[in-house]
Amino acid sequence: MVPINPKIKFGSLVALVFIPLAALDVGKYPWLEQISRQEQLNSGCDNLDAKFKKKLNYSELDHILVDHNFKLLYCYVPKVACTNWKRVLMVLTGEYNVTNLLDIPSWQAHSEHSTVKLSELAEADIQSCLNNYTLFLVTRHPFERLLSAYTNKFLDGYSSSKYFQQRYGRHIIKTFRSHPTAAEMASGANVTFREFAHYLMKEGPTTNEHWAPVNDLCSPCALNYSFVGRHETIMEDARAVLDMVGAPHIVFPVTRYAKTKERLKYFFQQLSIHEIETIYKLYEADFKLFGYGLEDILGYDLA
Ligand SMILES: *[C@@H]1O[C@H](CO)[C@@H](O)[C@H](O)[C@H]1NC(C)=O
Ligand SMILES: *[C@@H]1O[C@H](CO)[C@@H](O)[C@H](O)[C@H]1NC(C)=O
Ligand SMILES: *[C@@H]1O[C@H](CO)[C@@H](O)[C@H](O)[C@H]1NC(C)=O
Ligand SMILES: *[C@@H]1O[C@H](CO)[C@@H](O)[C@H](O)[C@H]1NC(C)=O
Ligand SMILES: *[C@@H]1O[C@H](CO)[C@@H](O)[C@H](O)[C@H]1NC(C)=O
Repeated sequence: MVPINPKIKFGSLVALVFIPLAALDVGKYPWLEQISRQEQLNSGCDNLDAKFKKKLNYSELDHILVDHNFKLLYCYVPKVACTNWKRVLMVLTGEYNVTNLLDIPSWQAHSEHSTVKLSELAEADIQSCLNNYTLFLVTRHPFERLLSAYTNKFLDGYSSSKYFQQRYGRHIIKTFRSHPTAAEMASGANVTFREFAHYLMKEGPTTNEHWAPVNDLCSPCALNYSFVGRHETIMEDARAVLDMVGAPHIVFPVTRYAKTKERLKYFFQQLSIHEIETIYKLYEADFKLFGYGLEDILGYDLA
């Protein structure tokens, strides 16, 4: 079987559409949009500050899920529709047989062994998958993702957030709240966004995968991603990836893009400009690699 390098497709596509590119409506042609995302990623990687550069380490590829049937590798990023993509992978691999992907309970999609991770394969197999399979990820505005992690794990009353309140909330309140009561420290509930921000500023953003930068989870500059999806275009991108690997029968569950602009303003206005800049610097690689900015929050960009 002749391996298909998806990158080649982009190359020939660029050649084909070179002249009419500017005249076309990019929204109707996901491949054109893909070309500019790839260019953004490539130039972002070329210009990346040395402190963000990561050497490729096979045992750290534990966020990349493997499907051998359709030769698909998906780097999952928590808070970016990863439950639905994990469900897709379970159906592609044959782990689950359902027509409606939502019939797969989310706890099952997130269970540790629902899908094989790239880091679990032998080195030669990792190499072979990286050379021959379609590798993709889905990104999101870094601050939206951060806010989603914060509200989901520290504010919402989900049972899963109990773990976060105990594991992180108690420590955050004890360390970053002035004069916390014994009851507040014991519960770990109701961490404020400002306290959470101070925690990230002090202890870094990689303490949990829900707020770790995509640059740390997916090594986008050390690997050759074939497709860069965005949360804002999750449905179109899902269609494109599934068509690309020859799985047009899979119906990606409807995932709405929540309009979080107002919420973003509401929470980030609780921080000083200096604090926002400091948090921005923690996620700077994600901003630059995936073409996001701060205009929505500050009214101007920092870069
Ligand atoms: C690769 O990552 C693992 C786990 O983080 C670490 O133990 C190991 O030392 C790393 N290897 C290299 C060569 O950096
Ligand atoms: C999935 O289930 C359907 C209906 O039960 C069945 O017809 C089909 O053969 C199954 N597919 C696989 C791959 O097991
Ligand atoms: C995949 O990549 C490897 C190199 O790691 C190569 O030897 C192999 O022939 C390629 N093709 C297939 C179908 O595995
Ligand atoms: C957290 O906030 C909720 C809602 O405002 C309140 O009911 C609860 O008592 C608070 N918990 C603690 C430990 O302060
Ligand atoms: C990515 O592509 C470049 C150029 O084709 C190649 O030199 C490099 O080895 C590839 N990296 C990986 C991890 O496959």
